[in-house]
Amino acid sequence: MVSCPRRIADVSRSVRSVPAAAACLALLLTACSGGGDHSTGGASGVGDPYFPKAGNGGYDVSHYGLTLAYAPGDSSGDSPLLTATAAITARAEQELSSFQLDLTGLDVTEVTVGGDRARWSRTGQELVVRPADTLPKGETFEVRVRYSGSPETITDPDGSKEGWLRTADGALALGEPTGSMAWFPGNHHPGDKASYDIAVTVPKGLTAVSNGELRSEKPTGDGRTTFTWHTAEPMASYAATVAIGRYIVTRSATEEGLPVYVAVDPSQTAASRAVLARLPEAMEWAEYNFGPYPFSSTGAIVDRPEDSAYALETQSRPVYPGAPDTVTLVHELAHQWFGDSVTPKTWRDMWLNEGFATYAEWLWTEDEGGATAEQTFTDLYDNGEEEYEDLWEFPPARPTTAAQISAPPVYQRGAMVIHRIRQTVGDDAFYDIVQGWAAAHRHGNASTDDFTAYVERAAPDEDFTSIWSDWLYGSGKPELTQPEG
Ligand code: TRP
Ligand code: ZN
Repeated sequence: MVSCPRRIADVSRSVRSVPAAAACLALLLTACSGGGDHSTGGASGVGDPYFPKAGNGGYDVSHYGLTLAYAPGDSSGDSPLLTATAAITARAEQELSSFQLDLTGLDVTEVTVGGDRARWSRTGQELVVRPADTLPKGETFEVRVRYSGSPETITDPDGSKEGWLRTADGALALGEPTGSMAWFPGNHHPGDKASYDIAVTVPKGLTAVSNGELRSEKPTGDGRTTFTWHTAEPMASYAATVAIGRYIVTRSATEEGLPVYVAVDPSQTAASRAVLARLPEAMEWAEYNFGPYPFSSTGAIVDRPEDSAYALETQSRPVYPGAPDTVTLVHELAHQWFGDSVTPKTWRDMWLNEGFATYAEWLWTEDEGGATAEQTFTDLYDNGEEEYEDLWEFPPARPTTAAQISAPPVYQRGAMVIHRIRQTVGDDAFYDIVQGWAAAHRHGNASTDDFTAYVERAAPDEDFTSIWSDWLYGSGKPELTQPEG
């Protein structure tokens, strides 16, 4: 609807021959009244099989510059207030008379495109932007959105809380799968990764932590402090985070010189100390197994959201909703390779994240002298339903609904797929595959088809047919045939 009048105006301006233009106009009017010609309006989603409204069509974001100020509110009932500007650099992949951004809640006060005021409207999670001039295909443009309000906590399809979570002294942003639209407008689908600069101004005494490296920490002159964070490597928006509160901050470096920034809520320091002390060791272990670390810093954020929340592999600096145990630390670190660097093309490919991260737990446990990965696999195969009731309910690569993308068939059975590959090719070829896969799609996106094709190319003499058909895509509990050799 919105793009029709604009499109006609554009055509009448740009077509030179008057009779032709008139005919064209008449045609378009017919087209519009008969259902509308939306060909130059960017689509409201990218067609994700589980989250059709996530992301948007017609453009590709290269950078987010987020300038946020947060006042956490107080016990007298003042609600927390976020005041923000998002400066988004994107390239038009088609002619765009309008395009959409995902944003939920909050009040938008101004939108500009290329410095000129743009018209905008909101429907559901879509912020529809109509630039003053149609953007030609191939054009790089900057859209700025000013907004404010009290950001929402979102309940995702499986009932988990995400988006903007309040803590006793601040807030914590969690974005998987769709939480990030609660705190900044964007192309919120894992298929469009970008670099980020995130500046957060908070009342003096509070710290604002985000992804990447801290570039500066400056007093504003009015009793607040601005923390500026930089992420150079491509980041999916669900892996972006901001944590605001009183933290005990520890800055150090790994033996290789990688900066480590760890922020812990004071109530969690005692319980976290021993496990966080193992962060450099876990990083080294992960590099040995998965190849070079893909980012330029590491760390952790440990906080206490008021709603119960999940741990998340926020890029370079995972979030833990309370002191983690060591396997959770290893799980989130493994996601830096599998999820954050090699990111799923759609939410259907989630098992590529969780299967690998769960398998990392098995490998770590084995290296620590606990159960071997083979024992974990066998035990799950024989008795898995006791712990994970729905383990065989659907295949890892085909969750039945959006509510199941974080269910045991994706995590545990996903890890079993990885182990079946290892059983088939043997240890040497297996580690080549794991590291080669992480290297081949470093800082990119990959699908399940990309993965099966990669494995087949890497081990051309092996037959993976039944692993794919029974373990990855098949319903029910697969039969366990002995691998040859
Ligand atoms: N991906 C997170 C992890 O494995 C967990 C997670 C994210 C999650 N979103 C979720 C778990 C929704 C359950 C429901 O570290
Ligand atoms: Zn995970």
